Amino acid sequence: MITAVNVPELRRLRAGMRGDFGLVPTMGALHEGHLSLVRRARAECDRTGVSIFVNPAQFGPNEDLHRYPRDLDRDLGLLEPLGVDLVFAPSPETMYPAGFQSWVTVEEVSKGLEGGMRPGHFRGVATAVAKLLNIFAPDRAYFGQKDAQQVAVIRRMVNDLNFPAEVVVCPTVRAPDGLALSSRNAYLNPDERQAATVLYRALSAARDAFEAGERKASALRAITRAVLDAEPMARADYVSASDPDTLADIEGVGAGVLLSLAVRVGHVRLIDNLLLLPGKPNVSCH
Ligand code: PAF
Repeated sequence: MITAVNVPELRRLRAGMRGDFGLVPTMGALHEGHLSLVRRARAECDRTGVSIFVNPAQFGPNEDLHRYPRDLDRDLGLLEPLGVDLVFAPSPETMYPAGFQSWVTVEEVSKGLEGGMRPGHFRGVATAVAKLLNIFAPDRAYFGQKDAQQVAVIRRMVNDLNFPAEVVVCPTVRAPDGLALSSRNAYLNPDERQAATVLYRALSAARDAFEAGERKASALRAITRAVLDAEPMARADYVSASDPDTLADIEGVGAGVLLSLAVRVGHVRLIDNLLLLPGKPNVSCH
């Protein structure tokens, strides 16, 4: 496994690699969710690359950029045994050198949900991912379903701008009690960690209703809200039932629905979602 920190070095190493190349973009602080993406890339591609970059452009001014967990040695120690070939760990100055002024905006899909609560977030995500796709030139790029709107934004961008890469979306990895793995779970104190199980409990209650035949978005949202409201440490930013591709709100969910939520537990903001499709069990890994 070789680690590059600048673009010419990365490109030189990448140019020497033959066969299908899979890229897993990350912000480090790796957990089993990231590692599941790496394993999938390893299984499907001849060569695998991972980027580790805490992307300042996707954090708002009052967000957690400065305290976001960073431990490159630990991350490299997790990647090496998985057989990763190439790691890119650039500095912010390498990704956004002085004079940088070209941004990627994916318009409609970025507007609601996380985009509504975090202005500029998806412009930062899309720009960083576009740069990584240009730098690595992968055949496939791997993302987690946990960040469902990110997936929709990246899919749209890859289609609209004709990036020659396939976007592969992998199931959310969950702790045994259902909490979706996230680098931000590290911010939760023990009481908050316990309370945070409410996200998956709320989504599961709606999934059970969907599987029992409920097809009205308003009813699924109300079921989700009722479970969240019963947890005193949790405060929902939103509960949404939307079209999985466009993220537009929908009322009839007969063809399937992305049920997603953002919840504050103490000072920690968490997101989660379930993709509910008629006749298909929801897939997450515990
Ligand atoms: O999901 C993430 O970790 C980031 O948003 C990504 C895709 C690496 C872009 O910075």
